[in-house]
Amino acid sequence: MPFLDSPQRFGWISVALHWLGAIAIPALFALGWWMTGLDYYHPWYLRAPAWHIGCGLLLFGLLIVRVAWRMTQTQPLPIGNPFPWQSRFAGWNHRLLLGLSLLVSFSGYLIVTAVGQGASVFDLFTIAPLPVLMDRQEDVAGLMHWYTALLLIILSGLHAGAALKHHFIDRDATLYRMLGITREPKS
Ligand code: HEM
Ligand code: HEM
Repeated sequence: MPFLDSPQRFGWISVALHWLGAIAIPALFALGWWMTGLDYYHPWYLRAPAWHIGCGLLLFGLLIVRVAWRMTQTQPLPIGNPFPWQSRFAGWNHRLLLGLSLLVSFSGYLIVTAVGQGASVFDLFTIAPLPVLMDRQEDVAGLMHWYTALLLIILSGLHAGAALKHHFIDRDATLYRMLGITREPKS
């Protein structure tokens, strides 16, 4: 698989960054939801948020790399002959997915740093806090985190559904291309 994207295909960097996000986002959503319901005596009461925050911040870093990488690459052309509005819609949905992923991560960081302490990544290193941005930052960022995460997971589900429709109903190579496979699906 080539290194760079081209009008015909995604290169391996874009493929790897995409699938890391596609695994991490639903996993972080499930972990976040589960951990907020744990009671104080549960063995994962402290460990689960530490994992959520550590993995979330690593994802945040990867997202920044991904957006920067995407800006340097040629976007592969749509496969088949979609209506122009369909390609525009898919393009905006992709930008929205990336924008929301950044917002979810940033609001998570604002929750953790709301009282001026840094955000630790598995006790390996700490991300410094920003100066406190607003009153009741923890609550405002908490609400923002929940609603942006909810919207992100719904849009990701629609996006994954569209990819499966391309594969199983239209039987085109859209999903194969994002998996780095060049052959056409069998009809
Ligand atoms: C795309 C990545 C992420 C997703 C999908 C996600 C998702 C979630 C969800 C669904 C919850 C439960 C919210 C609730 O029930 O109110 C949650 C809670 C939380 N998340 Fe994230 N999260 C992500 C990244 C992060 C990051 C990067 C951080 C911190 C640096 C973070 C920190 C937190 C904290 C502290 C809570 C607990 C909030 C509370 O107790 O109300 N999250 N997350
Ligand atoms: C299992 C779930 C997923 C599947 C099956 C899937 C599938 C695909 C496929 C087939 C493409 C290529 C579309 C094309 O050629 O035009 C694509 C692109 C894309 N997907 Fe997903 N995806 C999934 C999850 C996600 C998630 C959670 C995100 C959230 C950030 C996401 C963000 C994107 C973006 C931004 C693109 C455009 C290419 C890029 O910049 O990487 N995907 N996806």
